[in-house]
Amino acid sequence: MFVSDHLGINQQHHLTIGGVDTIELAEQFHTPLFVMDEDKIRDHCRQFRHSIEEYYQGAGLVCYASKAFCCKQMYRIAKEEGIGTDVVSMGELYTAMSVDFPVEKICYHGNNKTPQELEYALECGVGRIVVDNLSELHLLNDLAGNMGKKAVILLRVTPGIDAHTHQFIRTGQLDSKFGLAIELGLAMEAIKQAIQLPHIVLDGIHCHIGSQIFDIDPFEHAAEVMLSLIAEVQTTLDFSLKTLNLGGGFGIQYTDSDDPVAYDCYMKRVSEVVKKKATELGLPLPYIIIEPGRSIVGPAGITLYTVGNIKEIPNIRKYLAVDGGMTDNPRYALYQAEYNFLIANRADAPKDDTVTVAGRCCESGDLLGEHIKLQSAQVGDILAVCATGAYNYAMSSHYNRVAKPAVIMVSGGVAKEVVRRETLEDLTRFDI
Ligand code: LLP
Repeated sequence: MFVSDHLGINQQHHLTIGGVDTIELAEQFHTPLFVMDEDKIRDHCRQFRHSIEEYYQGAGLVCYASKAFCCKQMYRIAKEEGIGTDVVSMGELYTAMSVDFPVEKICYHGNNKTPQELEYALECGVGRIVVDNLSELHLLNDLAGNMGKKAVILLRVTPGIDAHTHQFIRTGQLDSKFGLAIELGLAMEAIKQAIQLPHIVLDGIHCHIGSQIFDIDPFEHAAEVMLSLIAEVQTTLDFSLKTLNLGGGFGIQYTDSDDPVAYDCYMKRVSEVVKKKATELGLPLPYIIIEPGRSIVGPAGITLYTVGNIKEIPNIRKYLAVDGGMTDNPRYALYQAEYNFLIANRADAPKDDTVTVAGRCCESGDLLGEHIKLQSAQVGDILAVCATGAYNYAMSSHYNRVAKPAVIMVSGGVAKEVVRRETLEDLTRFDI
């Protein structure tokens, strides 16, 4: 019945997360509410970390892609679990720095970083700046020179791989706003220039082929293409690219029809390819970085809403309106993303109704799902949406001046607030 094993049902027929009653959470912290199972997040960090230790003999690093869910507590967790992080803005970097995240384990991404951002990244001394294009490469070289520093970089390349996922979250193919295409020779050209620049230390290359990918083949293929590029650089330029960052993108289960592979399968299969290809090409094993985001936090989170208006249009559909919507989860509006829904206060009742879940915004497209099988609902029920830990709070907005929900983490059966609910004062804080 559940898409995740940390969810259960107690004697009151209430949905539980990490052993905590969601109805009590809704009463205590109000709705809409994000609830994340901290123990599960930690377990995912460990699974990825151990998969490198177990299957890959060259060393490596897991960098949590914090765009999936970013707050101080999340960086504390990553730090405590001994993994790194990928940041993509000054805001994310600032948040990581505010909990003394180990800078050497930070990768700084972005396809259009501003001079201020690059200066800030250099000032903080982040481990690797992932340079997206030639103009950024030269800008960074100049800024580093002015600051009397050397910038350690990876070059982001597009390996020309078309992963089978939604087109908005596909990034490895030739037609992409990200990175330098290998097949157009742009990657090689940037590598040549980077090696020559006095304030740049070229540590390696990066690729990210997309997100919510179930199939391991495109990851294997990407690793092969990247290894071939490393070999070509070695032979033609006599330069050794030491680090290979293969990005993130591992799919998770949202609904019963999703069938993700176990997290350690990824490293198991990709490290075989890397080892085989490196031996064939006579290369030393590169230092591997992977950047899982969704897979670390996605399955760990749920959202709780209170059911408000229920509107039945005969022979058309039944709308169930909730006290949140596209402001806390724009993924249905953006990608027609599907979720598993249930009435948390009658969690084991049969799902014998079919509804469209509507948000509260002045926008017809503000839906969380259509044709949803659900327990028959009444006003005041608590609706739970599963697997909302990634790209929900992170993509939330203030549309209609709706305040952002609180985020709660549960661990060992105890709940604590990690991001507080916004107040009306928060909403007007920047108005002059
Ligand atoms: N590394 C890079 C360079 C990335 O751009 C991303 C995601 C990741 C790692 C992490 O990918 P993940 O493991 O989370 O799939 N908003 C979309 C997802 C956008 C992903 C952007 N980049 C969604 O809600 O599905």
